[in-house]
Amino acid sequence: MTLSIPHGGTLVNRLNPNYKFDHILKEIELDNMALSDLELIATGGYSPITGFLTKKDYESVVEGMHLSTGEVWSIPITLPVSQDEADSISVGDEVRLVQHGTTYGVITVQDIYAPDKEKEAREVYKTDSQEHPGVAKLFSRGNVYVGGPVHQVKRIPRDKFADYYLDPAETRKQFEQLGWNTIVGFQTRNPVHRAHEYIQKSALEIVDGLLLNPLVGETKSDDIPADIRMESYRVLLDNYYPKNRVFLSVFPAAMRYAGPREAVFHAMVRKNYGCTHFIVGRDHAGVGNYYGTYDAQQIFDNFTEDELGITLLFFEHSFYCEECESMASTKTCPHGKESHVILSGTKVREMLRNGEIPPSTFSRKEVIEVLIKGIKVASLQS
Ligand code: ADX
Repeated sequence: MTLSIPHGGTLVNRLNPNYKFDHILKEIELDNMALSDLELIATGGYSPITGFLTKKDYESVVEGMHLSTGEVWSIPITLPVSQDEADSISVGDEVRLVQHGTTYGVITVQDIYAPDKEKEAREVYKTDSQEHPGVAKLFSRGNVYVGGPVHQVKRIPRDKFADYYLDPAETRKQFEQLGWNTIVGFQTRNPVHRAHEYIQKSALEIVDGLLLNPLVGETKSDDIPADIRMESYRVLLDNYYPKNRVFLSVFPAAMRYAGPREAVFHAMVRKNYGCTHFIVGRDHAGVGNYYGTYDAQQIFDNFTEDELGITLLFFEHSFYCEECESMASTKTCPHGKESHVILSGTKVREMLRNGEIPPSTFSRKEVIEVLIKGIKVASLQS
């Protein structure tokens, strides 16, 4: 078996349902991003991180894309609190991590510090414009960060597609049972369209299996909701992929829209889930025009292969070419743009909302049917 070694060497496990917290009175209220981060720390998705970042690690990540212990890490995993909450706690305290009255975890406070958010925005998101959804989120959170190791005492209840939440230890076990030695991870926050399918299947030509690992944590409001996407993945896999070559499970993190920095983060986390390879296509985790088409590929030049510990598979912008009568990219197609079917996510969402059907050269008809049905149900409910 040659499953990837977890980032930092061992899979972190900070799940501890027996951890005694009755005596702890102080509380920090978690937003959805912090709650999903707690679980990803505790289940080892964020190995080698064992808690929310202390100032030393935070600065090391923001400025140099490494933890202070030397491992590659590109997105600061922080626990922001209000000044009032910060005033009520001290270094050395154990504090409950709570959402809506339920205690999910405990942090041992090692550090309480005021971040330079402008700098964090410029370094991590490459802009301090609050038009950027990740930057807007950063500034909307508390202005003081609390750092320290955590224990998770209660799992987050999942009412939708609960069977698809697998911890890194569980996906690793599945891959072993499937007999896969090489596994390519695929991150997505969208339905899988023909271009995604093309790059996934190109990768499947050279590895044993594909982990289709859609992000289902918090996303911006105009992204397609996770439950609709999950249904679209299932119909696509049922109709167009060999059953024994794909494993579908979800990635419960919030989307940061940090483009290149997030691509590195996505790759490290998929390594923890057991992937040996990871796909980065065009404008990975990007939004608007903040990043160049291939910035999220070029950023990997900053690291050595050894410290990454996962093989990156980079793909050019792909599309259907009417002349080639197949999916292609500029690497394989000699024809001009007029022959290429290229639709932006925004354009597709607009078409779906207007009841228009995107061409089958862009998206499989089964996927479109699910999306149209999902959008109708969503509009009836709103
Ligand atoms: S992301 O924000 O989760 O990265 P998305 O779901 O659109 O967004 O993309 C998933 C993966 O597919 C990313 O690696 C992205 O770069 C890649 N990708 C998306 N569309 C294309 C395309 N037309 N050609 C090549 N790669 C693509």
